[in-house]
Amino acid sequence: MCGIVGAIAGRNVLPILMDGLQRLEYRGYDSAGVAIRDAAGELLRFRALGKVSVLKELVDRSDIAGDLGIAHTRWATHGAPSERNAHPHMSGVRVAVVHNGIIENHRELRDRLLALGYTFTSETDTEVIAHLLAHKLEGGRDLYAAVVEAAAELDGAYALAAASPEDPDRIVVTREGSPLVIGLGEGENFIASDVAALLPVTRRFIFLEEGDVAEVRRDGVTVCDGDGIEVVREIKTSELSSASIDKGLYAHYMLKEIYEQPAVIAETLEGRIHKGRLLEASFGHETTALLDKARHIQIVACGTSYHAGMVARYWMEEFGIPCSVEVASEYRYRKVVVPEGSLLITISQSGETADTLAALRGSRANGYIGSLTVCNVPESSLVRESDVCFMTRAGTEIGVASTKAFTTQLVALRLLAIALARRKELSTAQEEAMVNELHALPRQIEVVLQLADAIKTMAEGFVDKHNALFLGRGAFYPVALEGALKLKEISYIHAEAYPAGELKHGPLALVDESMPVVCALPDDPLLEKVLSNLQEVRARGGELFLFSDHKVNVGLDHYQNLTLSDIYPGTAPIVYSIPLQLLAYHVAVLKGTDVDQPRNLAKSVTVE
Ligand code: G6P
Repeated sequence: MCGIVGAIAGRNVLPILMDGLQRLEYRGYDSAGVAIRDAAGELLRFRALGKVSVLKELVDRSDIAGDLGIAHTRWATHGAPSERNAHPHMSGVRVAVVHNGIIENHRELRDRLLALGYTFTSETDTEVIAHLLAHKLEGGRDLYAAVVEAAAELDGAYALAAASPEDPDRIVVTREGSPLVIGLGEGENFIASDVAALLPVTRRFIFLEEGDVAEVRRDGVTVCDGDGIEVVREIKTSELSSASIDKGLYAHYMLKEIYEQPAVIAETLEGRIHKGRLLEASFGHETTALLDKARHIQIVACGTSYHAGMVARYWMEEFGIPCSVEVASEYRYRKVVVPEGSLLITISQSGETADTLAALRGSRANGYIGSLTVCNVPESSLVRESDVCFMTRAGTEIGVASTKAFTTQLVALRLLAIALARRKELSTAQEEAMVNELHALPRQIEVVLQLADAIKTMAEGFVDKHNALFLGRGAFYPVALEGALKLKEISYIHAEAYPAGELKHGPLALVDESMPVVCALPDDPLLEKVLSNLQEVRARGGELFLFSDHKVNVGLDHYQNLTLSDIYPGTAPIVYSIPLQLLAYHVAVLKGTDVDQPRNLAKSVTVE
């Protein structure tokens, strides 16, 4: 989604802004722009369709410099991707604004501003903010008052930053529904939609809260809350380093992140298990108290995180813990009947997904005993607004297609399932076995990663295909869903996942020689059933691409198969996800698509 970066300093901030935009590229965008106050005190604007590198060429050719600026990467919502829809939006030369979010009452505001004589040059909802601010400035307000008054008239979600040559010593920012951070420097200060943009210039951050309005000057920052009262927000030091979001020697972030999985899974387990048992003390007293009370689990999430939740449901119900899972965009608008003793668990890599956050906020009146988030970003809105959190420790994930965040979510959920099972019927021996399985994961995944070359060869079978079908039963149905999502996201091959038992209820009609069918075949009680579904595929000429346990006798007439050894049933969904990630990656590389920033997609979906 859109990215914001801004700076006010005693030096030329253009390199900081351009570097910040490049660091925000991973969020997904289609155009970029910057507005900078030059030595003459004028706001100059540059915008370009496409990559930040295109904007950079434009900026480099202009030879300008300035000590105050705001910049933006846009992910189109209102109005197609184009130069004139790119931010910053300006009202004449009076004010420039960058915005992340959606202004729901933009039509009404636009009509009002048109009647006042303002001219619109874009189809965006953001341009109304620029003109609204100009109108307030014309009415004698200073930039700060203009932002406060304008924000009061906006309905919807926003994080925005405004700059005006008439008010040269500050950038004014506000947020409601979309994240915004202030980075603190020495005699210079910065703003951004996430810390990643600013890591080369600072590690000290203020995370603005809902409704906050802040004035960012060279010599300091003043924050007021939604009631206009000056507040002191905590300064947090980010543990992320600039190097931690480097691609290193890998061709793509996604590949790097796939290979990081053994390490980040070990990191997610660190301190949470001890002497073969779960170390519940590490969860924190509040979390264990909530788990004590939980009689039913409601999981809510989006995308890959939703698939992690679907796997977790199998794990929880195996131990008699009732569990429901739903995508946040449906859950938030449904009348929900919450069984007594329900614990809400949200799952999110970013902690900023608009629908998941709205589901959490909307759940407060629903009688839950509390909310727990499984999240990867400590300073995120979900972490701040949930009663308790259980952090995955995947590190920054840059590739839009989630990999290491997914498997660490599964590890976190498995730990929570063990904790809940302890309160039911789990024996010490069972717990030790489950913990042992988790311990073995990094080593097992290292072995699976060695299949990469063979998977690359397998990937050749997909390059000229337009469709693919992924099948699975039990916890391997969500694994199939995740495998199909990875393939479609980055290779643009239409991929569907089906519970293997549903094959005969529709998808079998699609199967012929041009339909690759992908399936994980762990050695589990549903194996024979899945094998007979695969027979049905073969009988229609479908081409099979399998990842099976080495003990499995596939016994079909024709297929490609890679085997995995010594995988435990409890953690098998985690291990079998790895070859599916590698398959999608290699198909995308062979097809030459933009692996890390697939078209139309965003890493963090901060609007609905
Ligand atoms: C986007 C990303 C996915 C992610 C989903 C949910 O669609 O591209 O990778 O799974 O959002 O994001 P979250 O941050 O809540 O896990």
